[in-house]
Amino acid sequence: MTDPDSETDPQAAIDAETAARAQARDERVGERTAGEVQEGIPFIGAGPGDPGLLTVTGKELVEAADLVVHAGSLVNSELLAEYCDDAEQVSSIGKDLEELIPLMRDAYEDGREVVRLHSGDPAIYGAAIEQMDALEHEGVPTYIVPGVTSAFAASATLRTQLTLNGVANHVAFTRPQGKTLDPEEDHIGEFVGMGDVTTCIYLGTHAVADTMDRLVEDGHDPETPVAVVYHASWPDEDVIEGTIGTIGETLEDAGYRASAMVVIGDAARKAGYERSYLYDGWANRGNESDSGTEADD
Ligand SMILES: C[S@@+](CC[C@H](N)C(=O)[O-])C[C@H]1O[C@@H](n2cnc3c(N)ncnc32)[C@H](O)[C@@H]1O
Repeated sequence: MTDPDSETDPQAAIDAETAARAQARDERVGERTAGEVQEGIPFIGAGPGDPGLLTVTGKELVEAADLVVHAGSLVNSELLAEYCDDAEQVSSIGKDLEELIPLMRDAYEDGREVVRLHSGDPAIYGAAIEQMDALEHEGVPTYIVPGVTSAFAASATLRTQLTLNGVANHVAFTRPQGKTLDPEEDHIGEFVGMGDVTTCIYLGTHAVADTMDRLVEDGHDPETPVAVVYHASWPDEDVIEGTIGTIGETLEDAGYRASAMVVIGDAARKAGYERSYLYDGWANRGNESDSGTEADD
């Protein structure tokens, strides 16, 4: 799908790839399994920070890389030092697509092993697809290697589950209004108002006080539990706990303005959950009757 005219215009490349997808499905979908090493540049989820939370496939690809383009301070430098100290390392922070795409394309076309490291999982607030589209349009194949998203690391830190029987039947991955999201696109109040949703806020550490003020103004229960996990799985990980009514001030005292996961809901405190059906004989009864119902893990 190389189009020399669009080589210096990532937006044109993205538009062209989007239009091509509307005409014909990518034949690799359904033929390749997630986790399979494929031809091209892998977009790898580095996980939340601890080098041990990178997948085995991700680690092998990073170890074999000549060029590692990474998400700057969101990727733990310990991971880079441990797995790819010999590789050329380039932070994507402050670089636009016009700079990043030729960098990766040229290295790949020169026969170098190139990997793109995103924090957590590339599927969540990672902007991976626009880079992948721009590269694909220039004839460079790409694929995704999943990682552990920071909400899952925060959940482990809190020693909880994001879904909890009888308390949290759903999970929302969301972000607050700001430069990227208009106020009417901010759905945090709606998720919290549903009552049985664990709301995980990405990219919102700096806005916790404002977000909580809005929730209180909109009539949400100020006693609703909130936990803020700063740098989950990093050596300086920290946990600030409170409620919708108190967390803004507590967090301000702690001084964290970035790199934290905000978890709202009873799951944050493991409050009031009920024993699940799974370990109550239900699963076995389901198997016996071959009801076709999926059992919980
Ligand atoms: C640009 S988003 C990238 C998210 C990433 N793709 C993921 O799956 O975790 C960055 C936001 O993720 C969250 N985050 C990333 N790493 C984190 C960590 N180790 N602990 C807590 N939150 C983290 C923070 O909310 C941060 O503002």
